[in-house]
Amino acid sequence: MAAVSFQSVTKTYSTPQGPFRALDAVSLGIEEGEFFGLLGPNGAGKTTLISILAGLARATSGRVLVQGADVQSDYANARRKLGVVPQELVFDPFFSVREALRFQSGYFGVEHNDAWIDELLHSLGLADKAQANMRQLSGGMKRRVLVAQALVHKPPIIVLDEPTAGVDVELRQTLWQFIAKLNKQGHTVLLTTHYLEEAEALCSRIAMLQRGHVVALDRTSNLLKSASGNVLVFKTDAPLPAALAPLARVTGRVVQMVAQDVQEVEHFLAQLRQAGVEVQDIEIRRADLEDVFLKVMAGNAPADWEAKVPSFPRPAEAAA
Ligand SMILES: Nc1ncnc2c1ncn2[C@@H]1O[C@H](COP(=O)(O)OP(=O)(O)O)[C@@H](O)[C@H]1O
Ligand SMILES: [Mg+2]
Repeated sequence: MAAVSFQSVTKTYSTPQGPFRALDAVSLGIEEGEFFGLLGPNGAGKTTLISILAGLARATSGRVLVQGADVQSDYANARRKLGVVPQELVFDPFFSVREALRFQSGYFGVEHNDAWIDELLHSLGLADKAQANMRQLSGGMKRRVLVAQALVHKPPIIVLDEPTAGVDVELRQTLWQFIAKLNKQGHTVLLTTHYLEEAEALCSRIAMLQRGHVVALDRTSNLLKSASGNVLVFKTDAPLPAALAPLARVTGRVVQMVAQDVQEVEHFLAQLRQAGVEVQDIEIRRADLEDVFLKVMAGNAPADWEAKVPSFPRPAEAAA
């Protein structure tokens, strides 16, 4: 039995501009014990999919099962199996950290849980904050409490929606060490992130979502193989020749170009020389998950897709 099974999940939001389909027949199975990555650009539908899994939103059609329990018709059972760390920081400002964890524990009917709560506080670097009030904590500390809250009932399936967006390096390391340990102990992990190097390092299998569609789904190692090739990296101040510009990823002065083989690298360099483009700091590296991601995304995006996305203020933005 799959840990999580998304079966043809479609979600249509009604917006002032009319109905908007955020998910279109998404089908995915996540096996027990997997460390699964759900990747996609902003607006791809990752949070929508996780909200449906967590019972916070309803699918317009399709089904989601958590270890066989339907998230709608068997909500309590499905929810108990999940530990969900939401993308938005939501918390009760009147609780201390320990109270928040005890309360969450009680919600799931777990009693005498202080030993595990202490272990969570310790593992997430919160031990000296146990008595602190939630509203006194920094954003990074609140994020840690959300993770602890999600894990307080020792759920077999851990779901993290962009847990490291905007958090410091130290928390990232603490968090990944701890989550990797839980995964080794048998917990299934579903992670969304836009840090592709994190996904590459942690996830055994990856789905890429774009405009509500699954556009890639494979073992991380196979995805990396599909990008077989080398990336030519250099710096320049000059504009690229027209023939090369569409093949290049440019970030400030840094240009990256995926080449199939050494001949193609030489061909790129020859074209640059011919065009009189002066380049510095030439480097060749192996293609990584980001290269795969960009290739998949470029291959699937219709030219006018930006124009089709309705503007919609997210709660966090609206509140800011
Ligand atoms: N409550 C809502 N009402 C209308 N549109 C929404 C709502 N929530 C999300 N959307 C839209 O659905 C799409 C997917 O959003 P989301 O699931 O948050 O994507 P991601 O998490 O991948 O960034 C976006 O275009 C977003 O604007
Ligand atoms: Mg999101």
